[in-house]
Amino acid sequence: LKKIGVMTSGGDSPGMNAAIRAVVRTCAYHEIECYGIYRGYEGVMEGDFVKMDARSVKGIINKGGTVLKSARSKAFRTKEGRQLAYEKLTEAGIDGLVVIGGDGSFTGAMVFNSEFDFPVMGIPGTIDNDIVGTTHTLGYDTALNTVVEAIDKIRDTASSHNRLFFVEVMGRDVGHIALNVGVGAGAEEILIPEEDLGLDRLIDSLKRSKASGKSSSIVVVAEGDKIGKNVFELKDYVEENMTEYEVRVSVLGHMQRGGSPSCFDRVLASRMGVKAVESLLEGKSNYMVGLKDDIIQITPFDQAVKGKSKINKELLRVSDIMTV
Ligand code: F6P
Repeated sequence: LKKIGVMTSGGDSPGMNAAIRAVVRTCAYHEIECYGIYRGYEGVMEGDFVKMDARSVKGIINKGGTVLKSARSKAFRTKEGRQLAYEKLTEAGIDGLVVIGGDGSFTGAMVFNSEFDFPVMGIPGTIDNDIVGTTHTLGYDTALNTVVEAIDKIRDTASSHNRLFFVEVMGRDVGHIALNVGVGAGAEEILIPEEDLGLDRLIDSLKRSKASGKSSSIVVVAEGDKIGKNVFELKDYVEENMTEYEVRVSVLGHMQRGGSPSCFDRVLASRMGVKAVESLLEGKSNYMVGLKDDIIQITPFDQAVKGKSKINKELLRVSDIMTV
């Protein structure tokens, strides 16, 4: 390989810049050229490339967002879009690709690889931590810390007013963020898509905690929770079925995706970037790099995108015990 392209695709996550830096610098270390691609697959199809060298990624390891911008591309899902992407890459002499993104981005990379035999490696960048083949996706740790900090602040006002708060957190259709911040911030209940607590049990549990002397409570709700009600309907339901609390809702939203990456995410990004480039140089393709047992390993894309990573059920029990 002589020229590697690097891009960020799908929802951004803290640590993406650190991963771009690692890819660019690993290319420089091995004396091959590196091109940044703007706005994910959209930029590939438009040939929106910029040559990057070791110095062009200075001062970004600590920055949230992505200097290469990100997008979710509809056009790349079409055969014509991928044909165009292939033409633009070959015109520019780019002969390998590192895609930093989530499962949608990897599915695109996999299809592209199968059609054009184009070498691709993936780095899992999403706050959701929903990818098989890594215990941590890039940005997940930072998001957990951001959310815990936000809930700590909500608890201050909840307790001043003796209120019950439903705090909705991101995670798409998995509950990793909710479960971990629920334990980390000492939530009364944690509602996640993987477990159906049921409305009756929720009300019972809140009544019990009030009776045990608690004056305020936090319930963390994963955005993908399947209890059958959105967070505002939940508030209404609880208000109708118990009078013990005044209830408020806080939807944390996209602030969870921003901010300076944690040390963990910076180190992870650096390790993943090195592994992605060196795997391409070893002739590997169609894999995602990931962390398992503190070792950076690679998993074939088809396995990585097949299922969703499982939640740690032990945490549910820990949460139950902690809220005795
Ligand atoms: O996948 C990351 C994520 O932030 C999810 O947690 C959330 O469901 C989704 O992206 C939001 O997407 P958008 O930025 O398009 O609103």
